[in-house]
Amino acid sequence: MREEGILATVADPAEAELEAGLRPRRMSEFIGQEPLKERLSILVEAAAARREPVDHVLFSGPPGLGKTSLAGIVATEMGANLRATSGPALDRPGDLAAVITNLDEGDVLFIDEVHRLPRQVEEVLYPAMEDFELDIVVGKGPAARSIKIDLPRFTLIGATTRVGRVAPPLRDRFGYVARLDYYDPEDLAAIVLRSAGILGCDVAADAAALIARRSRGTPRIANRLLRRVRDYAAVRADGRIDRDTAAKALDVFEVDERGLDKVDRAILAAVVEKFGGGPVGLTTLAIAVGEEPETVEDAYEPFLLQEGLLRRTPRGRVATPHTYAHLGLSPPTDPTQPTLLG
Ligand SMILES: Nc1ncnc2c1ncn2[C@@H]1O[C@H](COP(=O)(O)OP(=O)(O)OP(=O)(O)O)[C@@H](O)[C@H]1O
Ligand SMILES: [Mg+2]
Repeated sequence: MREEGILATVADPAEAELEAGLRPRRMSEFIGQEPLKERLSILVEAAAARREPVDHVLFSGPPGLGKTSLAGIVATEMGANLRATSGPALDRPGDLAAVITNLDEGDVLFIDEVHRLPRQVEEVLYPAMEDFELDIVVGKGPAARSIKIDLPRFTLIGATTRVGRVAPPLRDRFGYVARLDYYDPEDLAAIVLRSAGILGCDVAADAAALIARRSRGTPRIANRLLRRVRDYAAVRADGRIDRDTAAKALDVFEVDERGLDKVDRAILAAVVEKFGGGPVGLTTLAIAVGEEPETVEDAYEPFLLQEGLLRRTPRGRVATPHTYAHLGLSPPTDPTQPTLLG
């Protein structure tokens, strides 16, 4: 776990193992996202009835909402093997060719961070997705020739936190593009209770609701907060997690009522105090809080934007009236705007 900013949505490698144990394996264990689940179930059941692989699916949405889990669920529900790789791991066309020529009929190929596939690799993927064919050039110079290989029918599942960065020709080749949204507190509370059951800890319903409200709509964070609350309960209380224990634990870890942590508040404070409410560029802002620009953009900013605590403009990030309110400050009065109250 990171020392500061326990709410950054991106999982670190140490967390991956903890997450694996809590990952829903079947559609019925996947909580929330009902409309998406219904559509996906239709795709899966119809394909299974036709004894065909499911059409290619792209999952998009902020980190920690269940994209990887859903890829696994689709494979399980289809009784198919899952082969997982990622955009950055497929450096050259040959890397992808090696993976797809090893697939069996009906396999699910999961490519995480699909927006990070290099262009030449993407181009190999197009005929593979469309016609289950591999077009590849072997050899160099005058000896180079293009060969076509027939592939087994497979399902490609892509996941991305940046659907806007997926090249349109690639996006268009997915039969279904599903967007995951932040979860509502009721679904997150159900996720906390499910995880508590798996971890064997005793969590009261109102404690689960409290953890849920501070999880910024994100199951990964709900599970992470549950683990921290469980630690606190074990060593500072009697192990049981009631509302009071959960609240005290989250105070110790500096997670506030809106689910903001130290880094979130540092970002807001920097915009207001160091940059006069903005606009301030992403890189400058990231340096001011000691984070990587990518971390700020992918892990912190989406939730702040959705909560109206930060606004993105072409010239940079700016504070909103909510930013000042959350920091307990009063917004500056704009001398160019007449005030109604005089
Ligand atoms: N709907 C859900 N029901 C129960 N648990 C969930 C659900 N969605 C996610 N989780 C939990 O949250 C964790 C993170 O989910 P997952 O790894 O699938 O997210 P992701 O969208 O792939 O994130 P990233 O973009 O960082 O790869 C999972 O290990 C799982 O325990
Ligand atoms: Mg994932």
